[in-house]
Amino acid sequence: MIRASLFLIGITLPMMLVGCVSMVLPRVSTENSGPPAVPAIATDGLTRASWEGGRADLLARFEAEIYGAWPGDAPARVTARRIIDPSAFEGRGRLEEWDVDLGPMDTHLVVLMPAGATEPLPVIVMQTFCGTRTAFGGAFDLSPPVNPSARECGTSGGWQSALMTSIFGRHIAEPPMEQILDRGYALAFLHPGDIVPDNPTGAPPALDLLMDGRESGAIIAWAWGYARVIDALESDPRFDDQRMAVWGHSRNAKSALVAAAFDPRIDLVLSHQAGTGGTTLTRSDVGESVAQITETYPYWFNGTYAGYGDTEAAIPIDQHQLIALMAPRPLLIGGGWRDAWSDPQGSYRAGVGANPVYALYGSDGLRQERLDAFDPTADIAVFMRRGLHGVQPSDWDAFLAFLDAHFSHSQ
Ligand code: GCU
Repeated sequence: MIRASLFLIGITLPMMLVGCVSMVLPRVSTENSGPPAVPAIATDGLTRASWEGGRADLLARFEAEIYGAWPGDAPARVTARRIIDPSAFEGRGRLEEWDVDLGPMDTHLVVLMPAGATEPLPVIVMQTFCGTRTAFGGAFDLSPPVNPSARECGTSGGWQSALMTSIFGRHIAEPPMEQILDRGYALAFLHPGDIVPDNPTGAPPALDLLMDGRESGAIIAWAWGYARVIDALESDPRFDDQRMAVWGHSRNAKSALVAAAFDPRIDLVLSHQAGTGGTTLTRSDVGESVAQITETYPYWFNGTYAGYGDTEAAIPIDQHQLIALMAPRPLLIGGGWRDAWSDPQGSYRAGVGANPVYALYGSDGLRQERLDAFDPTADIAVFMRRGLHGVQPSDWDAFLAFLDAHFSHSQ
């Protein structure tokens, strides 16, 4: 009885707190607050050939100024596949775990696919900061992360998961598996902590191992992880190599975007609340600053980026160019009206800033005129929902609408 009451208090109080915070925090404006506050991509003399000719240099600038070096392109190798459950989620899905050799380290990939599919499946590749076992609520016999410093949270459901979801939304750790399977998508989960643990003690040795002396940061290393999952999936004919999406929330959303800039095999990006170092403009003076992000998470970026802490306006590149590097592939930018920390307006303006490059490929890019005019058929779309930072059921409705609009497939 006492335990039950404590449990209830532990869950209800945070929920009430989240409700109050969300009412007190300022709401992001619906209107576009003006033209991108960034040097626009010069359209004078811009052609597909000139853009494509300059891609490698621009990628190298993102490595030099912000993220550190891309680890390399040696493909991952699947060394074993195990069936965990041939009819998981009440017969809807087949769950497998694959052993994957990434070169410098090994990992496990967990793959969930609609049961009985007869055609190559579209896939959503995801990384979550609580880990793969948590994504399944501890319900299956999945392996722990290979790297002992990799973080997991709430692996066995219980109060930890309940607390997490009351603060960050129902799907912060567990995506809506049934809904995704019913819509015909497979899911592939990689624990980013196997590549670089997300903590200041585990990250430096992992980066050393991965980079062999070259300077780099965790965001681009995790992005490389998405690319390695694409290697693994492309080696399996059950998956459609023309419909490979990457999904990430927040820090993982930054990496998902970087991954698509570097790896053209990624067909679509769902980048939810990516914020600074992700979809939002570095020069935007709203939300998290470069000084804040690099002080709290120094191992996410290279040292040069931290140097822009007091001089953001001096950074010679900005995130609209990173979005442009994935043109004309579809990008969904997700946000919350009270999540000013991740600066949805700055992301909107970065999307607009990428339009000249989308136009080179005959795409309108981001064409909505207000943040609340979500159009899932557009190649760059901004989706906003009520509330704060986290992953809610309405977010997944929007992700799936966007996927359906771009990956229309028979079921
Ligand atoms: C922190 C960080 C953000 C990041 C977020 C997350 O808030 O400052 O940059 O996006 O964590 O990953 O949840």
